[in-house]
Amino acid sequence: MEGVMDATMRDIITRQGGFDLCVTEFLRIVDELLPSKVFYRLCPELAHGARTPSGTPVRLQLLGNNPEAMAANAARAVELGSPGVDLNFGCPAKTVNRSRGGAILLTEPDTLYEIVSAVRAAVPAQLPVTAKMRLGFDDTDLALDNALALQAGGAAEIVIHARTRKDGYKPPAYWPLIAPIVDRLDIPIVANGEVWNASDYARCQQESGVQAVMIGRGALAVPNLANVLRGQASPMPWQQVLAEVMALGERDRTEGRERYMPSRIKQWLNYLQIGYPEAEALFMQVRRIGKAPEMASALQLAALEIP
Ligand SMILES: Cc1cc2nc3c(=O)[nH]c(=O)nc-3n(C[C@H](O)[C@H](O)[C@H](O)COP(=O)(O)O)c2cc1C
Repeated sequence: MEGVMDATMRDIITRQGGFDLCVTEFLRIVDELLPSKVFYRLCPELAHGARTPSGTPVRLQLLGNNPEAMAANAARAVELGSPGVDLNFGCPAKTVNRSRGGAILLTEPDTLYEIVSAVRAAVPAQLPVTAKMRLGFDDTDLALDNALALQAGGAAEIVIHARTRKDGYKPPAYWPLIAPIVDRLDIPIVANGEVWNASDYARCQQESGVQAVMIGRGALAVPNLANVLRGQASPMPWQQVLAEVMALGERDRTEGRERYMPSRIKQWLNYLQIGYPEAEALFMQVRRIGKAPEMASALQLAALEIP
């Protein structure tokens, strides 16, 4: 998730257990082969076997519309150790869509096919090329055509965010609209959108007809959500969550991101409010804090106040 799920967050979240795979924030490809340092910056895990410190594989995600450039950068991603490549055809951002990137390509199934097949040809056969799509741009008319185009191009798996670009992030996610795509395709489909707890997970599986689910914001709202969905844990207690929030703050401070630390903490608290009322109260307390030392003190105080 762009702007949120960087390597530090991936480390914190995957350490809670239960995740099979992480995908990086998207790397925007225009028409050039990007230097290796750009790949390492986005995915520092490449220097450590493309796994988070707790061992979850991390796959690089590319976004763009130029088949040759996508192919060249995909080849570089796997050379540097990414276990396959994921292609983003779901991003709803206006700036991205204006330059024919992300979800806008869902109006052009032929282009999807060209991109995936060029990338497939550039990536060694044993490594998967996967894709992420929404149900459509303005409507869902091309949902099946797009999924078929991705499959025909050689995608090994497709994650379907069960909304159109027009729907944005507005609930609900239309899980039942994934089912006819599952019926027609031969490759595995992963359902995505609005899975926040075990009952959403069960309903999503039942309505979409797929077992595998990708979670985005839910993992930020309840950090051990993957294990909760697997029935192996209850949502972690607030005290433990707060310790992770403090750890994020400490890492940002000690790893040269002091300036961004307060806004990152607020950003995470914002997601955590969905799972924890305590996060809402803390967010209100710290929302005007702009300096890292002050934020660290406020978090410490909050930890001391937990009974
Ligand atoms: C801030 C933000 C950034 C995102 N960045 C990406 C991204 O880089 N690549 C991607 O495939 N999806 C991205 N997404 C979409 C999520 O992966 C996911 O499809 C969407 O949030 C719906 O799933 P959820 O309800 O589990 O969050 C992003 C979503 C948000 C809210």
